[in-house]
Amino acid sequence: MSGFVAALVPAAGRGERLGPGSPKALRDLAGAPILVHAVHALAASRQIDLIVIAAPDDEVESVRALMGQSDYACDVSVVAGGQTRQDSVARALFSVPADTEIVLVHDAARPLVPAEVIERVIAAVRAGHGAVVPGLAVVDTIKRVNEHGDVVDTIDRSTLRAIQTPQGFTREILVRAHAAADDLATDDAGLAERIGVTVHVVEGHEEAMKVTRPNDLVIAEAIIAKRRAMGGSS
Ligand code: CTP
Ligand code: MG
Repeated sequence: MSGFVAALVPAAGRGERLGPGSPKALRDLAGAPILVHAVHALAASRQIDLIVIAAPDDEVESVRALMGQSDYACDVSVVAGGQTRQDSVARALFSVPADTEIVLVHDAARPLVPAEVIERVIAAVRAGHGAVVPGLAVVDTIKRVNEHGDVVDTIDRSTLRAIQTPQGFTREILVRAHAAADDLATDDAGLAERIGVTVHVVEGHEEAMKVTRPNDLVIAEAIIAKRRAMGGSS
């Protein structure tokens, strides 16, 4: 399989956990909006033919203007996102050409995903896995608690993975998974699981971290400073 690859970028969230301000994807990170970093990371991988951004519905024109300022190695289009992340992904998926073979879904909120993660996900889909997610071993001990805050049990950490994006799918599987969705899932792989697809995990990367709370911006800025000190562009 070596066909057309599209990457969907859900970017329509408000970023409530980051605190008051503009939508998260448009907030500044080391001199550029978070979304610009994410699109740059995807385009720089040279593995993607089309990027579709799901923008906040009142920011579609401003995001188009923002994207027009850079010359990316692939096509970039912008659609209006929805009320939930799942809805935003579904809207972006709808606009992908029918002959697309592989669809990635990548959170705008993961601006610093390294190219190696994108490559691993696409390679695993090409190798025959219909649904692929990057994952990291969990470092904290995880305990299940009851409604009183008492520990019920301790989960064997070696069986757990913290899942990141981009998540990769054959277009056929992602379309089917979204069409069958009757309830919200926290990620697209969750929808694929519900229709009985086996989801394969490849190694993720610490730098594919999600910007969720204010401290995550501090970490992301530190990663960018490290890359710049090492001679990288971002
Ligand atoms: N997202 C989206 N459409 C929504 C909600 C979320 O496209 N209606 C996107 C976000 O823009 C983000 C990704 O989904 O890139 C992951 O979501 P999350 O980190 O939860 O971002 P927000 O929903 O913006 O943040 P919060 O939950 O703190 O408001
Ligand atoms: Mg959210």
